[in-house]
Amino acid sequence: MGRGGETVRDQRPALEIDGLHSGYVANDVLHGVWLSVAPGSVAAILGPNGAGKTTLLRTISGFLPLRAGSVHLRGIKLSAADPVARAQAGLCAIPEGRGVFGGLTVRENLRLFAPGGRRGGDLARVLDRVPRLNRLLGRTAGTLSGGEQQMLALSRAYLTNPSVITIDEVSLGLAPIVVDEVFEMLTDLRRSGAAMVLVEQYVQRALALADSVCVLNRGRVTFAGSAAQAGSIDLHDHYFRQVGPGDDPAAPVTGEAQSHA
Ligand SMILES: Nc1ncnc2c1ncn2[C@@H]1O[C@H](COP(=O)(O)OP(=O)(O)O)[C@@H](O)[C@H]1O
Ligand SMILES: [Mg+2]
Repeated sequence: MGRGGETVRDQRPALEIDGLHSGYVANDVLHGVWLSVAPGSVAAILGPNGAGKTTLLRTISGFLPLRAGSVHLRGIKLSAADPVARAQAGLCAIPEGRGVFGGLTVRENLRLFAPGGRRGGDLARVLDRVPRLNRLLGRTAGTLSGGEQQMLALSRAYLTNPSVITIDEVSLGLAPIVVDEVFEMLTDLRRSGAAMVLVEQYVQRALALADSVCVLNRGRVTFAGSAAQAGSIDLHDHYFRQVGPGDDPAAPVTGEAQSHA
């Protein structure tokens, strides 16, 4: 410590989640979820339907209050912060189902995405990164194809310069060739230096982009390890692995500890 505050801060995880509990009214969904994402790295969150992946992202972004545990962004505790404060702290949440304003034009969407009404340079930057939007600027977002809407939604990340981007089911409902394009955009985004938390249904695509993998099952972490470890085992075993309340959620089976021949 003490070798210059900036250096020390940059070494902290971009996102750190510890002992996270959250849920809806009487429905507890997450039971002690933990996750640590290094700056500039990509964490893939995998798991079956209903595992709690979307609930996790909603809790990270502050749309759902946590019931226990903590969320830190670059060492700053955000556990009680609202979504706006979290966005200001450097979090960009791309929700499931394309977070665009369908009744507004592409240009209007991009203006709304830009924090504090910043315009010109930012718009030029996003159009440089996502050239396909150029010819769509005057189009109403709701009339775009699913892939174009998803690219517009992801463009938010170029405008806000976040340190962490959470993305829920980016490829949902898209044709495979369009998914390829969207993943090219994610690859470009990761070069910008932001860390990403990617909830994804296509395991192989997620593994190709991710550095680390976390499998959730029934609101608990059943696998945590590197993408290389995850790629060397049958991850689906962890999709259905039972983890009871008596098990220590801080000690999941890792790729090293359990390898399936
Ligand atoms: N708005 C909600 N109100 C009550 N229960 C919900 C709500 N959204 C999701 N759930 C429940 O929370 C659990 C986890 O859902 P979700 O986080 O959407 O899973 P995943 O994204 O992994 O498919 C499921 O049992 C689901 O029925
Ligand atoms: Mg979901």
